[in-house]
Amino acid sequence: MAHSTRQPSTPRRMTIAARGPLFGTVRVPGDKSISHRALMFAALAVGESRVTGLLEGEDVLATAAALRAMGATIERVPSGEGPVEWRIGGVGVGGLLQPGQALDMGNSGTSTRLLMGLIASHPIQATLVGDASLSRRPMARVIEPLSRMGADIVASPGGTLPLTVRGLCPAVPIEYALPVASAQVKSAVLLAGLNAPGITRVVEPIATRDHTERMLAGFGAGLTVEQTPAGRVISLTGEAELAPCHIVVPGDPSSAAFWTVAAIVSPGSRLVIGNVGVNPTRAGIFRALALMGADMVLHDGGTVGGEPIAEVAVRHGDLAAIEPPPELAPSMIDEFPVLFVAAAFAHGRSVFRGLEELRVKECDRIATMAAALTAIGARVEELSDGLVIHGSGGRPLPGGATVETRLDHRIAMAMAVAALHCSAPVTLDDVSPVATSYPDFLATLDRLADADRRVAEPVA
Ligand code: S3P
Repeated sequence: MAHSTRQPSTPRRMTIAARGPLFGTVRVPGDKSISHRALMFAALAVGESRVTGLLEGEDVLATAAALRAMGATIERVPSGEGPVEWRIGGVGVGGLLQPGQALDMGNSGTSTRLLMGLIASHPIQATLVGDASLSRRPMARVIEPLSRMGADIVASPGGTLPLTVRGLCPAVPIEYALPVASAQVKSAVLLAGLNAPGITRVVEPIATRDHTERMLAGFGAGLTVEQTPAGRVISLTGEAELAPCHIVVPGDPSSAAFWTVAAIVSPGSRLVIGNVGVNPTRAGIFRALALMGADMVLHDGGTVGGEPIAEVAVRHGDLAAIEPPPELAPSMIDEFPVLFVAAAFAHGRSVFRGLEELRVKECDRIATMAAALTAIGARVEELSDGLVIHGSGGRPLPGGATVETRLDHRIAMAMAVAALHCSAPVTLDDVSPVATSYPDFLATLDRLADADRRVAEPVA
């Protein structure tokens, strides 16, 4: 079977020393989840859609390349001083073409699982390949429902990439209760349902991020959401016709989380973070940090692209330990690495449980963060489903170690944040993964750390 055609990016080692306080303002780049969906739904609309604020990270570019390979036209139009615009010529639901070669998903689980859904109900066959991290991640969770809808999927041992999806058209609409709280699985089934006759229904006992539902409705799909005793029920009427849209992608709360924790743990810092998406299905990190007593205010910024946004004003301060309520987990599932960093500097013992999903993200985020925090001198106990972290009480951690980032952008950024309050510099074995979701992260860190405090905006 085919393997990734992409050269793995050259590992980039970097040593980060504690630096002065962080000051100033930062505007976070477009939301990764919303950017993937904007491209995919625009590629299925009839006519030209425009997207501004798109995240130009490697994961989203992998989605764009795959959609081009299946017939959509996707063009980046820089417009002088104004924001960059992406123009997408859609092929219409049912109109995806057979790609000429394997689709390279790079590091991106979202591209893989959502595109598998799209391919599953089109009369085409496609092979999906990915990097070493993605090739270890479980795909059975989408293979199972998509097979029920009629797709023929042949995966590598253990239900992993490379895999080949042969779609069925017309596919069979199903009713599917999610066995894991996963927006990717929910979205894969709904996207397959777009080209299946009749109603495809997904029941989610625990709510996960709802960008697919919001955006599909914006593109004109017939979709209803009901709250029932069994959970949220999403019903989509298939053989949908999507109308082209202009989408403005709000900033990514997952990216904002790094600056928020960085300001809190790095003594003397104060930051204003703008353009932060605060969709309640994503904003759990701000609730968790508030429970820890963070000095942080969210100023309502209205809505962008049907999604609420805020400006986050945050400054350095003490944090109390936390035992996050389990119901918060899905709304902050990508933020645990940086929340573990916050806990490592908090006062007291934080207990994180019920997080087995973190073991199958871009890496095993429980084991990797336990190893990385231990290496820099934190007291951490690894549990099968989480971590116990004994906070330093605001004191710097020793640092002076090399930590492994394991092809995981969020581990790299979380440990860069931890390094800001260590006594000795911390070496990250590879920072190249940050390009998947936040290409400017390290340059922005330099800018905020070098900012002149006299020109920093005051934080009320
Ligand atoms: C995503 C959903 C989450 C998240 C991932 C992006 C999405 O995964 O971890 O980074 O865009 O739907 P799960 O839905 O598998 O938890």
